[in-house]
Amino acid sequence: MMLGMIAATAALGGLLFGYDTGVISGALLFLRVAFHLSALMQGVVTSIALAGATLGASVAGVLADRFGRRPILLVTAAIFVAGALVSAFAVNLPMLLAGRLLVGVGIGGASMLTPLYLAEIAPARQRGALVSFNQLALTLGILVSYLVGYVLAASGAWRWMLGLGAVPGVILGLGMLLLPETPRWLAGHGRTAAAEAALHRLGRGPHEIAPELAALRADLQAEAKARPENKLGHATARLPLIVGVGLAVFQQVTGINTVIYFAPQIFQASGLSSASAAILATAGIGVVNVAMTGVAIWLVDRVGRRVLLLAGLGGMTVSLCVLAGGFALGHGAMLGWVTAAGLAAYVGCFAIGLGPVFWLLISEIFPLAVRGRGMSQATIANWGANLVVALTFLDLVNVLGRSGVFLGYAILSVAALVFAWRLVPETKGRSLEEIERLWG
Ligand code: BGC
Repeated sequence: MMLGMIAATAALGGLLFGYDTGVISGALLFLRVAFHLSALMQGVVTSIALAGATLGASVAGVLADRFGRRPILLVTAAIFVAGALVSAFAVNLPMLLAGRLLVGVGIGGASMLTPLYLAEIAPARQRGALVSFNQLALTLGILVSYLVGYVLAASGAWRWMLGLGAVPGVILGLGMLLLPETPRWLAGHGRTAAAEAALHRLGRGPHEIAPELAALRADLQAEAKARPENKLGHATARLPLIVGVGLAVFQQVTGINTVIYFAPQIFQASGLSSASAAILATAGIGVVNVAMTGVAIWLVDRVGRRVLLLAGLGGMTVSLCVLAGGFALGHGAMLGWVTAAGLAAYVGCFAIGLGPVFWLLISEIFPLAVRGRGMSQATIANWGANLVVALTFLDLVNVLGRSGVFLGYAILSVAALVFAWRLVPETKGRSLEEIERLWG
């Protein structure tokens, strides 16, 4: 199999993450009727998957270090498929919640393992693009889930909406049976011959394999040497940890998933009253998300991470203020248009900056010795913050109004901008070793 096909199969992990992130928004319109859900319970149905994801992200890293990336991705896919089927066949609320929890464990694991797998199979010069490929698959998954939601909205077939997620899960699982383990994991476990064979299967030419194996061995030696003093709490790792966890939290508390999860409801509140019109408008948001992620992939190795991050955050702040103003002052058709334009601009600005750049940076900024654990901490923080935002959004809307909530996210975007301006280093074109020295 060629590297491109292997990467595309692995990126199905991102697709699962995205599909499930998005599908709930369309399904919720029907679930709330079918299961008589209060605002709080709608939050719980959405959020229990996030709690599961936090759990999945915290165990996946440790297990993948011990047993290999490939078997744990396989298990993750199986858990996801089981969860999708349990949710789809749910006959009561506890069963629905159990299915959503399983789905969450699956996507939490995949959210961490997919970028890790991609980073470890990529040749150094293609690593940035390949890791961001995960975010592209993620946004595609969100878009597909919206389209599925739209097509099925007329019939209210929420069981199909939730169950169809099993399809990419099955493909990922089958794909993982064929895909190689990462050379880095194999070499790290003393299986040099297998690492060499894996590099071969990843399409490296005969003259590329020996230097890559040597570099891998040198990395691993440095890692072994660094380990005793290079704990996550140690000074050299403290700053990257602050940056990784800080960006993880800011990626969520600036509100992206209130749009991804609740967009149809936001559109309905702005005057698009039919469920299918609201879901179709939401699909437009999904297209913007994919397209701008594509632009980010094209730009990220040219203009660098910082420019995208800062410009994106600036744009998010402005669009959030527009949304807050719209909901405070607008009404009728005007409010509908301002909402649509504001949401599209907001998602576009997220997709060009904080969306992909966060996941890319956490695979780059940690010193080698703590990279896995650092990435895992940042991923846990990301899902935890996601959970808090999803649980509080509908209640905050009741207390502060939509306008107040969007203003709150705007203020947090300014805080994120200052944080990124002061603390995030430019990693474009630098080797991971150079990045490590940057922190000094
Ligand atoms: C975030 C997700 C979000 C998605 C939207 C990702 O980078 O981690 O929480 O749903 O972007 O495209």
